[in-house]
Amino acid sequence: MSKFFYPLVENPYRKKDIKEGIKVLKSGKLTIGSKTETFQKIFSKKMKTKNSLLVNSGSSANLLAFQCLINPYRKKRLTRGDEVIIPALCWSTSLWPIVQSGLKPKFVDIDIETLNFNLKELEKKITKKTKAILVVHVLGNCPNMDQLMKIKKKYNLLLIEDTCESLGTKFKGKYLGSFGEFSSFSFYSSHQISSGEGGMICCKNNDDLEIIKSLRAHGWSRGLKNEKKIAKKNKNLDKRFIFYNSGFNLRSTDISASIGLSQFKDIDQFIKIRNENRNKILKSFYKNKKIKKKLKILQGNNFTKPSWFGLPIIGNKNFNKSIFIKKIEKRGVETRPIISGNFLKQPSIKKYKLIDKSKMYNAEYVSKKGFFIGLPTTKIKNKILNKLVKSFEESL
Ligand SMILES: Cc1ncc(COP(=O)(O)O)c(C=O)c1O
Repeated sequence: MSKFFYPLVENPYRKKDIKEGIKVLKSGKLTIGSKTETFQKIFSKKMKTKNSLLVNSGSSANLLAFQCLINPYRKKRLTRGDEVIIPALCWSTSLWPIVQSGLKPKFVDIDIETLNFNLKELEKKITKKTKAILVVHVLGNCPNMDQLMKIKKKYNLLLIEDTCESLGTKFKGKYLGSFGEFSSFSFYSSHQISSGEGGMICCKNNDDLEIIKSLRAHGWSRGLKNEKKIAKKNKNLDKRFIFYNSGFNLRSTDISASIGLSQFKDIDQFIKIRNENRNKILKSFYKNKKIKKKLKILQGNNFTKPSWFGLPIIGNKNFNKSIFIKKIEKRGVETRPIISGNFLKQPSIKKYKLIDKSKMYNAEYVSKKGFFIGLPTTKIKNKILNKLVKSFEESL
């Protein structure tokens, strides 16, 4: 008898995704090119993000947003020591681009119902030095965006949306990632869509787009709107190799673009099936008295149509997470923590002297009691569902 296995991620690549990748491989043009352009355009149009640039990861997208904000070509740039509000429940590369850009993170606890900012606590952390908010849309969910936008407006703050875990979620019919001045998306293999590694950086302002384009590729002037103007001003230089800005190389490839685009075209279908699977699991879990008593499955925020890629679960006060995780993993169910838990507990925080003594009760609760399991993009079979329920029951 084969052992039961319920993975966090099934192989996300379908035959048609691979076919698209192979076409690019055969073309001999593997680096950034027409496929990337097409993906960017289709992405902007559907997500209403105005400008989108494909990069090699969601982390790179976050880095480019903050590097753009401090860039000397930006008319209103942020300067060293300016403060950025960030939730304590975040990913490593939600945080580090802020620090790497010379800005100061100010941590805020989360709301246990949404796993996103506690907006009352957020407002208390705003000072004269606060210039931006980095919202992390956790696992397909978001805070009340109306309230967040009100706070943004009241204090005249910039908004960067880390949408790496929430591609396709809508708040009152509007896609996450289309609210802030900047937003980032990730196409890592376990996320809503996948291109192996990959991400998108989006921005509202056309001047920011030009800065990000240059930062993405070595800082050169190639492909910029004023490329010719820059060349005219620098007649002593080879016009193909003018380094106009500082830079990185965070470009993706046309192979990733073709696979990502093939998946992106079916995002609505993925969301639909994942929702159906989620509802099926929820129904079975809550029919089981033991599971119902001890575990709570995260719901979407009011006014939200979430795009889930996992099933975030929080245990009650008596739930012993470490014993449960050992037992359930033995039974073949893969689990993982909800993002990285309370990020303030990570050793890198101490090393970089970012210790914040505020109590992050809810982020801490999620670290101690929270975990998530996968949600496949193919319909879950009753046989698998029954085994999943049984594994949970036996592990509690
Ligand atoms: C909230 C959040 N931001 C950023 C990232 C980074 O994305 P990537 O893995 O594509 O670099 C992740 C990764 O999972 C994430 O969960």
